[in-house]
Amino acid sequence: MPIQYLEESKTFYLSTPNTAYVFHVTENGYLIHDYYGAWVPPCDLRAYSARTGKASFAPSTADLLVQTDTAPMEYSTNGVGDYRVSALQIREYRGNASTDIRYQSHRIYDGKREIPHQPATYAAEDEAQTLEIVATDKVTGARVTLFYTVFTNYDALARHARVENTAAHPMDLERVYSSCCEIPFGDWQICHLYGDWTKERTFERKDLPFGITSMESKRGASSHYHNPFVAIADKNATEDTGAVYGFNLVYSGNFSAQTEKNSDGDLRVIMGINPTDFGWKLESGEFFDTPEVVSVYSDGGLGEMSRTYHKLYRNNLCRGPWKNAKRPLLVNNWKGTYFNFDQDKIYNIALVAHEVGLEMLVLDDGWFGARNNDKAGLGDWVVNEKKLKGGIKALSDRIHDLGMKFGLWFEPEMVNPDSDLYRAHPDWCLQVEGREMSIGRTQYVLDLSRKDVRDYLFDAMDKILREARIEYVKWDFNRNITEPASALLPAERQKEISHRYVLGLYDLLERLLKAHPDLLLEGCSGGGGRFDPAMLYYSPQIWTSDNTDAIDRLSIQYGTSMCYPTSSVGSHVATCHSTRITPMETRANVALAGTFGYELDITKMTEEERESTKAHVAEYHKYYDLIHFGDLYRVVPPDGKECAWVYVSPDKSEALLTFVCIRGRKTTRRTVKFRGLDPDKYYADESGTVQSGRVWMNAGVNRTAVMRDSESFKVYLKEIGK
Ligand code: DGJ
Repeated sequence: MPIQYLEESKTFYLSTPNTAYVFHVTENGYLIHDYYGAWVPPCDLRAYSARTGKASFAPSTADLLVQTDTAPMEYSTNGVGDYRVSALQIREYRGNASTDIRYQSHRIYDGKREIPHQPATYAAEDEAQTLEIVATDKVTGARVTLFYTVFTNYDALARHARVENTAAHPMDLERVYSSCCEIPFGDWQICHLYGDWTKERTFERKDLPFGITSMESKRGASSHYHNPFVAIADKNATEDTGAVYGFNLVYSGNFSAQTEKNSDGDLRVIMGINPTDFGWKLESGEFFDTPEVVSVYSDGGLGEMSRTYHKLYRNNLCRGPWKNAKRPLLVNNWKGTYFNFDQDKIYNIALVAHEVGLEMLVLDDGWFGARNNDKAGLGDWVVNEKKLKGGIKALSDRIHDLGMKFGLWFEPEMVNPDSDLYRAHPDWCLQVEGREMSIGRTQYVLDLSRKDVRDYLFDAMDKILREARIEYVKWDFNRNITEPASALLPAERQKEISHRYVLGLYDLLERLLKAHPDLLLEGCSGGGGRFDPAMLYYSPQIWTSDNTDAIDRLSIQYGTSMCYPTSSVGSHVATCHSTRITPMETRANVALAGTFGYELDITKMTEEERESTKAHVAEYHKYYDLIHFGDLYRVVPPDGKECAWVYVSPDKSEALLTFVCIRGRKTTRRTVKFRGLDPDKYYADESGTVQSGRVWMNAGVNRTAVMRDSESFKVYLKEIGK
């Protein structure tokens, strides 16, 4: 039984194959956290939550049973003596904001329920068990339900909270995090993913100071700048060993991940919607659901944590026919033509692409309205017949006649001021009356909280998708949100707009996928500005970065791999416009650690480049299953000199090692070691060398040649027996 209630000690025991999560109810109804870590059998662990008592400056409950400021609280609240970062703060109708919840009841069931109107992991009855705990606040009348789902096959725990107003008066939610996790004293470090446009999800690991550490977004999107992911790692944890707790929020909007290390060294980690620019009014009888946090505990280091996320997200977050189906090998025209194309130019790209073995032509920005640059036309989803005679249908038919699929770019959430849409509906943008609207990439943000706006967008996209055969849509989002206010919301609900926007986005995505269930969506936001688990629920692949320089991509893809599976990492062999020129071989080797595709004017390729492309296409097919469904081992992090990674098939019968020499030196590492093989199996490389897995993993591969900057190689192993 993955979830048990131990009556005698009032203990909730939750387990996965290798982990356990334990908390109990005190006599006065508090939920106190006891343990989260490597598997232990069901037992009474109440003694583990005891903390050193403090003097009067850390007050206790009136019955002296719990000192809320030091106790490991299962879901911390504000204003009743716990001065650390809190998960919940409710302002009641009389104006005060002290919140205090006590246990009432619980239930345990097989499987997992949906979070209404929100993306989340899902599970069949035999794949998970769920615990729902109800705790109430007798003063505010809040009824809080804490949801915990443990997965039978993965060391993962999904949590979210629901707050219901059972009082006769309205209440205001001021902060309502998805999860609170208490980690006892230790040498903990924080790992997180920071970045920028063209530098997304850069990995950083650092010591945690006393006090609060915060990673967040207030940009209206999960953002390029911080990802809704943090890991708390033991200082000695490595890629392969040691304790690591990962936390990842299934949300595409403003998020907050905060840690607070108290003076005893105990650590609290909370994660959820960012309380800045957030508030939610609950009328009597209404409820609010937070998004979900997925936490993974690993005592096999960061590598094992990542592999758990990868499998869970591939199998229990991504949906639809493209979840496991082989994705079409695409060529995108953006970096090849930008806005400067017509039907013949695109067709010629498809022609050559088809010759070298590519399977889908994606037409990027510039096919609609007066969109000849990024200053006009956005929002006018009507084909520009000057560029594309006969419309999208004529082009799509020609592409299909070649035997290829066809994909199309949209940026539904935005509008250029110079567009028919804006001229007709200026009030459809997010804006504050009387204040000039900020502008980004010459565009404003449409108010997706409005149903009429979503209806317009749905109808416009649906029409295009019905008129022509379109198998794929790239859904872009190219600026962050400012002046978050809606013309339709009453004053007391304006604080809800950032979250309502995100819910509107989910609604539109869901509606589109319902109407076009076979569509493959690729998420995008000026590269990877909205690369989060919530978007993966709709789009199983996401464009990772506008930076397609193979060397810069190493650290972008390394950071992304912390929690997102390779099958989600949109990666292309592309024109080197912004940075250095790297060998095609290396561009392909790096792009192979993702969905793989091309983004250049393929008609300009030399004969030699076309031949090498054919070879890389063949490799894409050969390694597809291994890379998309295999286990990833990060062997050498991109440290400025070199980088290497290994994929191992689930049955350990094949493996592929890729090594990139970032900076060639006489002393470049020549020995690179495999990981994850069966030590007792024998594997042959493509030159016929046979060694046991033990030798490939301990002695590794010896490359004696001095490698130049940006060169790379791969070694493929196949099992030949025990
Ligand atoms: C930003 C995306 O990241 C690019 O790939 C491209 O689609 C452009 N937008 C088009 O405007």
